[in-house]
Amino acid sequence: MSAAPFDLVLRNARVATASDTFEADIGIRGGRIAQLGLALPRGEREIDAAGRVVTPGGVDAHCHLDQPMAPPVRMADDFDTGTRAAACGGTTTVIPFAAQEKGQSLRAAVADYHRRAEGKAHVDYAFHLIVSDPTPAVLEDELPALIREGYTSFKIYMTYDDLKLDDGQILDVLAVARRHGAMAMIHAENADCIEWLTKRLEAAGRTAPRFHAHARPMLVEREATHRAIALAELVDVPILIVHVSGREAVEQIRWARAHGLKVFGETCPQYLFLTAADLGVDDSYLGARCVCSPPPRDASNQQVIWDALADGLFTVFSSDHAPFNYEAPEGKKPGGQEVAFRHIPNGIPGIETRLALLYSEGVLGGRLTLNKFVELTSTNPAKAYGLHPRKGTIAVGSDADLVVWDEREFVLDNTMLHHAVDYTPYAGQTLRAWPGLTLAGGEVVWDGRDFHARRGRGRFLACGAPSLLPQRQGGLA
Ligand code: URP
Ligand code: ZN
Ligand code: ZN
Repeated sequence: MSAAPFDLVLRNARVATASDTFEADIGIRGGRIAQLGLALPRGEREIDAAGRVVTPGGVDAHCHLDQPMAPPVRMADDFDTGTRAAACGGTTTVIPFAAQEKGQSLRAAVADYHRRAEGKAHVDYAFHLIVSDPTPAVLEDELPALIREGYTSFKIYMTYDDLKLDDGQILDVLAVARRHGAMAMIHAENADCIEWLTKRLEAAGRTAPRFHAHARPMLVEREATHRAIALAELVDVPILIVHVSGREAVEQIRWARAHGLKVFGETCPQYLFLTAADLGVDDSYLGARCVCSPPPRDASNQQVIWDALADGLFTVFSSDHAPFNYEAPEGKKPGGQEVAFRHIPNGIPGIETRLALLYSEGVLGGRLTLNKFVELTSTNPAKAYGLHPRKGTIAVGSDADLVVWDEREFVLDNTMLHHAVDYTPYAGQTLRAWPGLTLAGGEVVWDGRDFHARRGRGRFLACGAPSLLPQRQGGLA
C-alpha cells in the first residue's frame, strides 16, 4: 500500500478561526497543516472530530513560569508542569517572561531563562523580556540586539519596588520600542499611591489579605493607565496595557483609541470570574489565594470587562498565570507564616483554565462569538508578539496546534488540573466545555483524559515583528 498523503487527518471538524467557521477535514504533515478540505485522502492516523468545534491552540501571551523570585518565595510551576497544564487546557504556545533583576544584564536574564526552559517544555514557547534596569548599555546595545534576535516584546512596570521604572525611564524604553519595532507591555498601577495607602492600612492594623484590594483601588490603575498612554503618545509608539481589571482603566483605553492612539488592552480570567470578595469578607488568610495585582473588582466591573471583550476594546485575553502554592513556605505563606498583605506573593494560577472559562461563559453563555474567542485567545496574541501565522490560526502552513472541544457540564476541582499548584481560585465553578483533544505540532498531547508527556518537545520560538498594525517598511530595525 502506498504511503498515506498525511501523517494525520482530523476529520469532520467544525473549524473556527478568528474570521470564519466552516466544516473541513484537516490534513497534517510534518507537524503543520498541509490541507483543509472536504473528503481529504487518508492519513497514517485518523481522528474523527465528529462535528465538534476545532479552534487553533491557545496562545497564552502572559504567564509566569519558574520566574526567579526573592527567597524564600518560589513559583510552583516550572516549564515542565506549567506547559503540561497549558496543553491539558488547550494552550499550545506560551510566552512567559525573562525578567531582568536590577543590576543584571538583560542577556544574562535571557540565558538563565533558556536554561530553565531547556528540555522541559511540552509546548512551544517564546519569551517576553522584563526590563527593570534600563541602563545605557541595555538601551543602546542589549535591547536592540535582543529584539533583532527574536525577543520582540517586553514588559515594564509602574509598580513593585524591585521592578518599577520612573516616567523618564519609561520614555527611554518606549523610545527603543519605537525605534526597533518592538511591543511594550505596561503594568499600570501608581506605586506611590499604593505605598501611601499600604502604610496607612498597616498603621491601622489592617493587614489581612482583603486589604490588598483597598491598597490598590481602581484610581491607582486609572492614573497609571492614563500616564502610560500619555508617555506612549509623547513617543508615538503602540503599547499594550496588561491585566486591565475594570471600568476606569477601560475608559482610559477607550479614550486613547477614540483619539487615534495605538493602545491595546489585555484582560484576564480573574477580572471576569473573581471579585474583591474572593480576597475575603473577613480577615481570613484564605483570601491570599486570590491576591493578584491589579486586584479583582466587583460584579459591575466584571460586566464592563465582558462588554469590552465583546466590542473589541480588548485585543488579548491571557491568564497571567503566576503560580504560588497556598500551603507552602515558598508560596502564599512565605517562611510558613500568614503575613501582612504587602508580603503575600502576587498572582494566581490560571494557565489551564483560561480557555475553558472563556469558552464556557463567553461562547456558550452567549456573550462572545466563537470567532471572537479565537481572536482573543489565539490569533491576536500571536499577532501582537510576532508569531502569526505560524501560530494563532488554522491555515495551510500553520503549525498543527489544534483543540477539539467537548461541550459538557461539570464542576471544576483542583484535582482535575495538571499544574503544580495546590489550589485553583475557580474551584466550584460550573464549566460547560473542556478540550477533548489538544494537538501540538500534530502530536496528541492531551486526549481529554490523559496527558501524553514528552518533555522537551516544545521548541523555543524567535518572535518576528508584531503584526497587529501595518508594518513600517523593513519591519524590525
Ligand atoms: O499579581 C500579578 N499579576 N502577578 C503577576 C505579576 C504581574 O504583575 O503580572
Ligand atoms: Zn503585571
Ligand atoms: Zn503577570
